[in-house]
Amino acid sequence: MSEFSAPVITVDGPGGSGKGTVTQMLAKKLGWHLLDSGALYRLTALAAVRQNVSLDDEDALVRVAASLDVAFEPTPEGEPAKVILAGKDVTADIRTEACGNNASRIAVIQSVRDALLQRQRDFQLKPGLVADGRDMGTVVFPDAPTKIFLTASAQERAQRRFSQLKAAGVSVSIDAVLEEIRVRDERDMNRSAAPLKPADDAQVIDSTGLSIQEVLDRCMAAAGRV
Ligand code: C5P
Repeated sequence: MSEFSAPVITVDGPGGSGKGTVTQMLAKKLGWHLLDSGALYRLTALAAVRQNVSLDDEDALVRVAASLDVAFEPTPEGEPAKVILAGKDVTADIRTEACGNNASRIAVIQSVRDALLQRQRDFQLKPGLVADGRDMGTVVFPDAPTKIFLTASAQERAQRRFSQLKAAGVSVSIDAVLEEIRVRDERDMNRSAAPLKPADDAQVIDSTGLSIQEVLDRCMAAAGRV
């Protein structure tokens, strides 16, 4: 990081580790920008499906990724930003299990990842950036001064996801959620393009059994901001 660039805290880890909530809280507490990189993969998948592009058509997917017309609109109450695709609010549409799965399928394609790279780096603005994803510390912001890898047991992540889905009125079994998490972890960790793994200089935080406030405190400590 040069003395002129904004500082970055990267937070990588598997789904359900608490990353989304914690990065929002961190960004708010520090008054920094937030990059939800998973949303870009979800948006690419959603836009592809809506344009009838096959998830196996690499060239067409790259065109979709490169031409995404997306805006993240801050909400007044400090809630997660509204996600706007081609002028339409898709905040809820990108959060479905199907969209997450499609995102993880297209995320294995290196050329799709390349098409989204600069768009992610453009979020590095002053006073600073909290970047949430799978490869923030390893690929997108390799010079970030603070890198966190947030994890939790698959069982606990499934339980958290199950509770969220139940609260949203979705009827699903805990076993189905656990299986889904296992499949997604397996794909994210074993792909050749930017596999999910801690950067060599990342601080690993296991959030199993911790409250979100405890996780936030540990992240602040990791960033030397206590
Ligand atoms: O974090 P989220 O669940 O929104 O991400 C959806 C999918 O996008 C992940 O399962 C992963 O395959 C992919 N992803 C990625 N690299 C990132 C962020 C997300 O490959 N930096």
